[in-house]
Amino acid sequence: MEYQYHIFAPYRVCPIGAHVDHQHGLVTGFAIDKGVDLWFTPNEDGKVHLESRTFEGTVDFDVTQASQIKEGHWGDYARGVKYALRKRFTLRHGINGLIQGSLPVGGLSSSAAVLISYVMAFAKANDIELTPFEVVKIASEAEREYIGLNNGILDQACIALGKKDGLLFLDCDTNEYRIIRRNPDMPDFSIGIFFSGLTRSLVNSDYNLRVYECKTAAWDMLAYTDQPLKPFDKTFLRDIPKSTFDKTKIAMPQRFARRAEHFYSEYRRVRQGVTAWESGNLKLFGKLSFDSCESSIHNYECGSPELISIYEIMKSLPGVYGGRFSGAGFKGACIALVAPEYQESVSQELTRQYLSRFPEYEDTFKIYFVRPDDGARFV
Ligand code: GLA
Repeated sequence: MEYQYHIFAPYRVCPIGAHVDHQHGLVTGFAIDKGVDLWFTPNEDGKVHLESRTFEGTVDFDVTQASQIKEGHWGDYARGVKYALRKRFTLRHGINGLIQGSLPVGGLSSSAAVLISYVMAFAKANDIELTPFEVVKIASEAEREYIGLNNGILDQACIALGKKDGLLFLDCDTNEYRIIRRNPDMPDFSIGIFFSGLTRSLVNSDYNLRVYECKTAAWDMLAYTDQPLKPFDKTFLRDIPKSTFDKTKIAMPQRFARRAEHFYSEYRRVRQGVTAWESGNLKLFGKLSFDSCESSIHNYECGSPELISIYEIMKSLPGVYGGRFSGAGFKGACIALVAPEYQESVSQELTRQYLSRFPEYEDTFKIYFVRPDDGARFV
């Protein structure tokens, strides 16, 4: 079947600034040259009909009718976008479409890429003009309010706003962002993606629990220092100065102190990372990404034996500037910045060492090397 339009929504990687977007922290990220393709033709009758080359079954619904019920199916992402768009606009036209992902699911935010592609397609079909940041907000609302993941806007921002020749630096408190162009003195690098073989759904992981732990740490600090509390959903670590944390961390349950420690140290690493990137210091930028992963393991306590093992192996390999768990880091993948001339040896050594520890992933462990790319677009 011939479709009228084609959207490409890239996956994303985040070298520094993990698990802090939901606390309104600072993040960095890239869109990459692998992602989701959506081909579609608008129609006049308001019906959405979707097929997938990645998932089984078809999706059918009507954009003119409200639906609040999640079905636990890949179609929920399109329904979530309908929900978020209908809060703002009247939808009259549907689409017939076909969607396809290009890499295994897990850690690269395929969910946000899919959401962004539907936002752009439904908007096109209904003659709705959106700025890139509105696309980010609508996709993010669909994921938080409809899918039920209490995440921040890191994924959507990288996917919609990323640029081939720069690093996205985003303040999740003010929503200010800029693309920091690559310093001409910076050595070349490619992005290694190392899929553990474990896939996952974040809704069923400890992701939401960690978000509440961060907020509890924030409440603890406010309570210890006799400050008024805000409702839990309006409480963010970003609103509490590091000096308050330094005064109260001894008194609070250590689990919560570790979550806050991750937040404040990641804030510092992102600031240092941005300076390193600006000056072309890829070595330091990479080291900060490794440090970020250490903090994810010990302070944020995510990861799995598989991901930790990939991280430890890649850390020991020549040609790897730095890297960390990708995304939420409960399962899925690790990412690394790799000197292109070392790709071959990194692949070989990582595969050898990882599979000797986890032979059960022989068929599902995968390595890809990708490049930064521009954000979601019509092709
Ligand atoms: C997932 C979430 C993001 C972000 C990352 C961790 O990808 O969807 O909002 O919190 O984890 O940085």
